[in-house]
Amino acid sequence: NTRVVRVDKDNPDKTVLQEVGEVIKKGGLAAFPTETVYGLGGDGLNAGSSQKIYAAKGRPSDNPLIIHIADMESLAQITEDVPEKAKKLAEKFWPGPLTMIFKKSDRVPYETTGGLESVAVRMPSHQTALALIRAGGGFIAAPSANTSGRPSPTSAAHVAEDLTGKIEVIVDGGEVGIGLESTIVDFTEEVPVILRPGYINQSMIEEVIGPVRMDRGLLITDEKVKPKAPGMKYRHYAPNAELTIVQGSTEKVVQYINEQCLALQAQGKRTGVIGTDETRKFYQGTVVKSIGTRQDEEGIARHLFGILRAFDEEKADCIFSESFDTPRMGQAIMNRLLKAAGHHIIYL
Ligand code: TXA
Ligand code: MG
Repeated sequence: NTRVVRVDKDNPDKTVLQEVGEVIKKGGLAAFPTETVYGLGGDGLNAGSSQKIYAAKGRPSDNPLIIHIADMESLAQITEDVPEKAKKLAEKFWPGPLTMIFKKSDRVPYETTGGLESVAVRMPSHQTALALIRAGGGFIAAPSANTSGRPSPTSAAHVAEDLTGKIEVIVDGGEVGIGLESTIVDFTEEVPVILRPGYINQSMIEEVIGPVRMDRGLLITDEKVKPKAPGMKYRHYAPNAELTIVQGSTEKVVQYINEQCLALQAQGKRTGVIGTDETRKFYQGTVVKSIGTRQDEEGIARHLFGILRAFDEEKADCIFSESFDTPRMGQAIMNRLLKAAGHHIIYL
């Protein structure tokens, strides 16, 4: 059965994490908080642990895992050729919500990299995550701790919904800070490529290392252009209900969503609306939720996955969401929202 242990996220109990670290060293699995989302951790250098991670998540085993480290010495042990630009980014953003991809060393099993010659590495800034990585042997492979296809977990309760009975331990460190997964930058190509947008955006990266590219698969919704990160090709973050994003002036969006909701409700359907503190009062859906105020884009990012999960509990048949193309994190927020909607967006 799955044990839940609570820790103070900034000052976690060392003996508790030592025990959880032992579980991981012995090949077991433990979910733990990071500053982005909760991770499902196992020993990244143990092929058997990685196989267990895929099984617990129901994730295809060609979708590689990120190895989480706690210091720069560890990076050298699992990679070959770390370019200067990557070292600069590490200096600026590690520990933090940034994942970088390099050629892997022989120590990293193919089970962890989904058969690839490259390995994704991240040094998180969360104190509980760092302490657990150290206690667990230094190399923790961890995807987001959700069932494959569901929204990533931003609280221990979300993890428990998906993984109870499937892993040894859940370390509950409360709510996460950012709420969207790390930015991924691929350094195996001549010009570094952003494979997944996150809290650290393109211009923050370019300020440090100059021009980087956005993976074409992120920009184009053409089915034939596959994103380079294997995980980005799957339908993802998806609530059970059909989700539609509606973009345009507030007035038009409110009018359109209300028309749709009323028509669907007349057919006996339960509708859901994702609005903001500013607009929620205008909507006539069966269930209307606010993702927060438009003034706080970090709040919108932090609440997104939780709100998608909440609509599953409400048993909504159809959900309509406003668009959140905010200045700094808009690219990351819209990347997740569009995937959750299966790219179903209406421009008014
Ligand atoms: O914030 C995060 O990154 C969280 C926390 C737990 O650290 N982890 C996370 O892992 O989001 P996951 O497995 O849910 O997403 C990792 C993504 C997947 O889309 C995967 O395909 C891609 O990274 N990826 C991993 N290794 C790769 C590689 N060698 N080449 C290309 N893409 C890779
Ligand atoms: Mg994930």
